[in-house]
Amino acid sequence: VDLKPYNTMAVSAKARYFAQVSDSQELQTALDFAARHDVRPFILGGGSNLLITSPLVDRLVIRMAIEGFDVNEEEKTVRVGAGECWHKTVRRVLSMGWGGLENLALIPGTVGGAVVQNIGAYGAEVAQFVKSVEIYDPQTGEVRHLNNADCDFGYRHSIFKTEPGDQWIVLSVTLQFQADWKANLSYRELAVAFESKEATPEAIYEAVVAARTRKLPDPAVLPSAGSFFKNPIVTREEFQALLAKYPSIVHYPLAGGREKLAAGWLIEQAGLKGAREGAAGTYGKQALVLVNHEGKASGQELIAFASRIEQAVEAMFGVHLEYEPVVLS
Ligand code: EPU
Repeated sequence: VDLKPYNTMAVSAKARYFAQVSDSQELQTALDFAARHDVRPFILGGGSNLLITSPLVDRLVIRMAIEGFDVNEEEKTVRVGAGECWHKTVRRVLSMGWGGLENLALIPGTVGGAVVQNIGAYGAEVAQFVKSVEIYDPQTGEVRHLNNADCDFGYRHSIFKTEPGDQWIVLSVTLQFQADWKANLSYRELAVAFESKEATPEAIYEAVVAARTRKLPDPAVLPSAGSFFKNPIVTREEFQALLAKYPSIVHYPLAGGREKLAAGWLIEQAGLKGAREGAAGTYGKQALVLVNHEGKASGQELIAFASRIEQAVEAMFGVHLEYEPVVLS
C-alpha cells in the first residue's frame, strides 16, 4: 500500500503490510498477524503529525478506525473512539451546547492522536479535557483505563510518547466538560477579538477557524504536518542573553522563570520564512510549518530541509529545535 493518501505531508512510501481496524477484535487480529510475521506494528491515526522518511516502511501499519461517541449527560462526559476525526468531535460537542473544545477547532487528525500528542492551540490543550483514556497493552493483552494524571501530559507530550506507553494503543478517550463554561481568551489575538464582542463557544469557534485558515495551509491544497518544530523552552539566563541581543524576540513566560520562544519567529529571523529547496519549504505565512510543494518531495528531502532550518537557528541563536511530528522510518 502506498501511504501517500494516509499522511498529510503527502510523502510517498510503501508499507510492507497495512490494515484498518474498526474494533478491538480487528485490532487483535492485526497484532497477531504482526507477531506471526515478525514485524512491528505502527498505529496510524490521521497521519497529520507524521513524517515518513523511508521509501519502504517495514512495519504493519495499522490505521486506527475505532468509532464511537457516547454521551453521559449526568457526568457531562463524552467517550469518543480513537479513530474519530478530532474536528468532527469538536463540532459534535459544540452542537450539544457544551463549550470547551472551541479553541481546539480545525486541528487535523484523530481523537487518539490528539491525546498522544496532547494537541494544543489558541491557549488550550486537549489534556484539560481528558478524564480518562482506554488503552490496550499488547504486552499483557489487557485493556486498562488511565486517568488524567497517569497520562503525564505536558507541552506536546504524553506518556504515550515514551516507554512503555509508546507500546500502548489508545482505544477511546473520555472527555470531561464543565457545567460552568468560561471563555478561554488567553491567546492574545482572541482576547483582542473579544474585547467588545460577546465570547460564546460558537463565536470563539468561528474566530479560531478563521485564524487557522488565515495562517495555516490546508493540507489538501499544500501538504504539511502543521508546526514542524516545537516551540523551544529556555532558562531565564539563556533568555536574558537572547533578549539583550534581540530585543524584539517573541517569548511567553512559563512557571519557574523559564521562557518559551516562538520557533516561527526564530526561523523567520534566520531568513527561512517561505524558503524552498526543491519541493521542500517553509510556509510563506507561518515559518514553523514545513510544506511539501505539490507533494513532490521525498521524506528524505523534507528531513534534510528541516535539518538545515535546525542548523540555521542553532547557529544564529544557539537554540536547539526539536521536531514535533512523529518520524517513521
Ligand atoms: N511568528 C513569526 N513568524 C512566523 C511565525 C510566527 O514571527 O513565521 C511569531 C509571531 O510573533 C507570532 C508568534 O510567533 O505571534 C506565534 O505564532 P503563532 O501564534 O502562529 O503560533 P506558533 O507558536 O507558531 C503554536 C502551535 C500551533 C498552534 C498555534 C496557535 C506549536 C509547535 N505550535 O504555533 O500548533 O496552532 O500556536 O496557538 O506549539 C501544530 O502544533 O501543528 C500547530 C499548528
